[in-house]
Amino acid sequence: MAESRARVRTVVFPVGGLGTRFLPATKASPKEMLPIVDRPLIQYAVDEAAAAGAEYLVFVTGRTKRAIGDHFDTAHELEYELEQKGKYDLLEVVQNTVPRGLSCIYIRQGKALGLGHAVASARAAVGRREPFGVILADDLIDTGERPTVLAQMAEVAAARGGSVLGVERVPQEETHKYGIVEGEYVAPGVTAVSGMVEKPAPEHAPSNLAVVGRYILSRNIFDYLAETPPDHRGEIQLTDAIAAMLRDEPVYAYEYSGQRYDCGDKLGYLKAGVAYGLKHPEFGPAFADYLRHTMNTSG
Ligand code: UTP
Repeated sequence: MAESRARVRTVVFPVGGLGTRFLPATKASPKEMLPIVDRPLIQYAVDEAAAAGAEYLVFVTGRTKRAIGDHFDTAHELEYELEQKGKYDLLEVVQNTVPRGLSCIYIRQGKALGLGHAVASARAAVGRREPFGVILADDLIDTGERPTVLAQMAEVAAARGGSVLGVERVPQEETHKYGIVEGEYVAPGVTAVSGMVEKPAPEHAPSNLAVVGRYILSRNIFDYLAETPPDHRGEIQLTDAIAAMLRDEPVYAYEYSGQRYDCGDKLGYLKAGVAYGLKHPEFGPAFADYLRHTMNTSG
């Protein structure tokens, strides 16, 4: 269900990475299937896309594609069992992993040749619909009662045209972990981007505005991706293609409001589990008691 007027009809989910930081958990299943409480990361991402008005969900999968496809597919035997046992609440949960009316498209990324390569693989599925969204499910962003990040960005894209990158301010000493943008502040939270640097050392960073896992991209990005050479690791970087595109057409950076958890990283993943556990309506208070008790006795 759309929660804003502006919508992003097609959203791409690159889930083809190797997830080496989570091995062996990611040996047979992508990291986007790691659960936060009782839902896999990719489910949070799909729900975010649905809230931004998405109709087409494009998954760019890798070696471990089955788990994602199965999660969003009909599970006949499971549904039958739940129905027989009268577990209708669970039946509804299982039947609604894909919100009603949305279509899933699966693309295989033959080799994990980088995020840019994954997005480029979605070209045929995105078709002429534009602009399209990209969500990296391992960046889990909690916006509480506010619109989801993609929905916030859709408003900016609708108002200004062009592409919009989700950014947040990071401590200067962490710029080497992110793509960093430079540009001119044109409205509250909105920067017109004039340049991008991938993982700059703090002393070379043009700002502390870091690109995180949310993008609304003009369809022209596919032409720039096709021209982007692999980097020194043999990967095609989405950042490089955006950096080339912004010389020809507008790209904005939007400082969304929300709390991000980097779930591609073990510490970030643990923090997300604690945060979502604490706010869980059923057992949040009991979990808080448990954590207090553990902290008191361990330290
Ligand atoms: P990461 O940079 O986190 O790489 O990818 P990774 O391989 O998933 O994880 P590590 O670093 O080895 O632990 C960022 C996003 O881009 C996707 C990932 O699935 C993740 O959502 N990705 C990356 C692809 O879809 N394909 C790729 O070839 C690389």
